[in-house]
Amino acid sequence: MSQRSLTIEEHFTAEDRRAVLEHDARVGLTASQKRLSPIWFYDERGSALFDEITRLPEYYPTRAERGLLESAATEVVELARADTLVELGSGTSEKTRVLLDALVARGSCRYVPLDVDPDTLLAAATALTEEYPGLDVHAVAGDFLRHLDLLPQEGRRLVAFLGSTLGNLMPAERHRFFTDLDSSLSSFDRLLLGVDLVKDRARLEAAYDDAAGVTAEFNRNALRVVNRELDADFDPAAFDHVARWVPEQRWIEMRLRARSVQVVRVAGLDLVVHFDEGEELLTEISAKFSPDGIAAELWDAGFVVERTWQAGDDDFLLVLAKPYC
Ligand code: SAH
Ligand code: TRP
Repeated sequence: MSQRSLTIEEHFTAEDRRAVLEHDARVGLTASQKRLSPIWFYDERGSALFDEITRLPEYYPTRAERGLLESAATEVVELARADTLVELGSGTSEKTRVLLDALVARGSCRYVPLDVDPDTLLAAATALTEEYPGLDVHAVAGDFLRHLDLLPQEGRRLVAFLGSTLGNLMPAERHRFFTDLDSSLSSFDRLLLGVDLVKDRARLEAAYDDAAGVTAEFNRNALRVVNRELDADFDPAAFDHVARWVPEQRWIEMRLRARSVQVVRVAGLDLVVHFDEGEELLTEISAKFSPDGIAAELWDAGFVVERTWQAGDDDFLLVLAKPYC
């Protein structure tokens, strides 16, 4: 028999989630540029749709990153000499298995996945506990923008932040995230970051507007979550999915555009929201990076790049960085 060990720590309760959603929806839906925070995509259905996105022919990032992880994993764990893998926004922990294989090959270790979606987190943590006998899994339901200081401190840690989730933060938020992360790490810890690179517009826009319409459904899922959690009556079918590359900002914007005038009641907030025909709700950005640009951003927050692995001319980048003081 194996000595399986699974613990779950809850820092983002249903009440916290509700309070954050109320605040986010009230501020976002009454702003002149309406917006919702991307955290709301990921309920059980949203996570399943995202899983589907990662397998779409147009969505190159997951395949590119998996390829990089496969060729770099052994070197990453040797450089990091880690015994604990922390993963922020771990989702289904699919690609993580490549890193876990390399870590387990060096001896027993611990995995600390952190995600805001407790259902997906629990399913992933349970599956990994079964697949890796002897792996100590310590799952944390939490928000990586607010709960970094609550991560377990023991061990030599490799903190993975994959899937270009970094690009979904606004630039100021990104800087704060890196600075907070830097102050929660010791000089022995390492950061492994996976980011998407700037590339031609057609390829970028196709990755966020696939022919099968999965990304469109994922985008509309944010409205379903608001309907369910805040007792609202958005008609998701009345909104078109828009994915647009904004060259000045170097990001893709995901929007939902009202096909006709919409009057939406959000009973849970005692709020009525009007959309003009063609009015857009901003649901997500996905910033794209350059190798020099990301190294400079990391440096500004206290990290120095130790090694990078790049796929193609401009496909995807894996960065191993360490705190410099
Ligand atoms: N790392 C996986 C999943 C990426 S999808 C991959 O590379 O494929 C982004 C994940 O981050 C989702 O599982 C979502 O629930 C989680 N997430 C989004 N915002 C978060 C936040 N603020 N704190 C913690 N997790 C978050
Ligand atoms: N981090 C992923 C990315 O920026 C998340 C993502 C993929 C996403 N497809 C999406 C977010 C569609 C919103 C809509 O690539």
